[in-house]
Order: sequence, then C-alpha cells, then structure tokens
Amino acid sequence: MHGNITVKILRSDGAEGAPARFQTFQVAREPKMSVLDAVAKIQSTQDASLAYRYSCRAGMCGTCSMRVNGKNRWTCRTSVDNLKSDTITLEPLPNYPVIRDLAVDMKPFFENYRKAIPQFSPAQPRRADFARIPQDAPERREINQHVECITCGNCFGACSLVGSSSAYLGPAALNRAYVLISDSRDGAARERLDILNAHSGVWGCHTQFNCSDACPMGISPTRAIQKLKRKEILHAFTRPF
Ligand code: F3S
Repeated sequence: MHGNITVKILRSDGAEGAPARFQTFQVAREPKMSVLDAVAKIQSTQDASLAYRYSCRAGMCGTCSMRVNGKNRWTCRTSVDNLKSDTITLEPLPNYPVIRDLAVDMKPFFENYRKAIPQFSPAQPRRADFARIPQDAPERREINQHVECITCGNCFGACSLVGSSSAYLGPAALNRAYVLISDSRDGAARERLDILNAHSGVWGCHTQFNCSDACPMGISPTRAIQKLKRKEILHAFTRPF
C-alpha cells in the first residue's frame, strides 16, 4: 500500500467540560510504519502541540496505548498496514481522565491496582537459596497464563463496569491478585481474598470479556476473575466465624 493515510485525532485540553474535537492530518505511508510512528510524525512535522505518551517503543511498557479505530491497542506494535484502512481514528483510552489530546492520567488505574495488594508478600522468612516452582509444575503453568501483564491499562479502558463504577478495581488488579494468590510462596492470599470478596472486587465483574479482547499480551483477565470467584467460595467455607 502506498500514498497518504488520513489520521483523525480526538483533541482536547483536558479541562472539565471543554469540548473535544477531531482534527484531521495527512501522513505519508511508510513501510512497516506503526501507528505510533504516524503520531510521532504528525507531532514532529505538523503540530508540535499534539500530546501523546510513549516510552519504550518496543512493546514492553504499554505507555503508548490509545484507542485505534475503536479498539484499545498499544500503538508501537500496531502496524498501519494491518489496520487495512486508509483512515485511522485515534482517541485517548476510555475510562481515564484526559490530560490532553491522547495522553491520559493513569492514576485511577494504579490507585485501584494498589488496593489488590499487587506486591509479593513472602509466606516464609528469607532463605539462603531460591524458592523455585518447577517450570512443568501445574502451579507454574497456571501462573504463566497471567503473569506477563505489563500494566498498560488497555483492559481497564475496555471494561464498561470500570466506566460505570470508580470503585470497581478492574481486570488488571484482579488478574495480578490471581497471580499472587496462585503462588504458594506468597503469604497474603487470605488477605487479598477478603479484599476482593466485594462488588468492588470479583463480584463486580459481569464476564464481559472486553478486557481479554483488549489485552496485547494475550492474557485473559476474565479467566483469572472466574478462577478468583471459585477461590472466594472455597475461602468462605474456610474463613473463621
Ligand atoms: Fe470487565 Fe473483563 Fe469482567 S471487561 S466485566 S473485568 S470480564
């Protein structure tokens, strides 16, 4: 494919109540061009005031996430050619306050993430050797399906339950909690299950699957949340009265 692509960008100054408007740019298509490349080109050659965020440009940090043609994506790994369209519409990730243009404030995401105790809490005192889980152990295989989250926040922006309730912790926080609750070396499982046994926790999920569809790492937070719901029920029977 050759020629120009049309890039429509939703722009706003982030002020509450201020109207957002689409601005249209033309960009020369280049071989292997990513959506992030196109945004960078617009910012460097056409409008230096365009606000967006990126960091690694290599699919490791997730900070370049935006809504691309109606779907949340990491833009450094989204090829312009693969979109199969000469028009690209870019909006900031939903469910976040907009700082300006395509840059959003990640504060709601990380505030909720912290509430699920995302840090490892050792069950045993420090030991001299490593506490390994063998690669082929069922526990390891279970954890592997959920551990590669890069906290890009695409899932948080895709879940309409997050959009309707700021109290709902959201898919990434619950997925992280599931990873640690599944890890026998962690000692805070009961504490986490108590926190998540609420409408703001696992019971707030309506199994929409939007989070799993949006995850660029191929993780299914939906699966993690369903597993957590089962663990909550078992936990209820073992909780002291
Ligand atoms: Fe939301 Fe994912 Fe549940 S999109 S409703 S957290 S399955």
